[in-house]
Amino acid sequence: MTWRLWVVPVLLLALGAGCAATTRWDAEYERAPQAVRADWDLARRRCSRCHSLERVFLQLELDNDRDDVRWTVEDMARRPSSGIAPQEVEPITGALDWYRTRQNPR
Ligand code: HEC
Repeated sequence: MTWRLWVVPVLLLALGAGCAATTRWDAEYERAPQAVRADWDLARRRCSRCHSLERVFLQLELDNDRDDVRWTVEDMARRPSSGIAPQEVEPITGALDWYRTRQNPR
């Protein structure tokens, strides 16, 4: 059962750009509580379309609170053909904020 959970992200990774930056996301995925994992994976897919995920990590290290995180997600979602649905803004914000709180508690 557990291995199946692995297959999906690994396949997506293989299909993706093969970008080295995604490994950091995978490591965080492993750390994420069950409740966060699906949203974290969603964030990885949505936020890696147009630029490196490193960019996202860098910003999260600067963000002070959940509103800061949401601001960026909304900004990105508004871009033409972002592929980010309005109802995905909250789950993505939640997953990214999970990382921010752990990384950067204030
Ligand atoms: C439609 C393409 C697209 C998608 C999808 C996208 N971004 Fe971006 N992002 C950009 C572009 C273009 C820039 C740089 C230009 C700019 O700053 O306006 C950027 C810049 C950034 C920056 C640098 C700071 C800033 O605001 O300019 C961060 C952080 C960021 N994106 C986070 C995200 C996150 C988080 C997601 C997922 C929710 C995401 N991006 C999805 C296009 C995208």
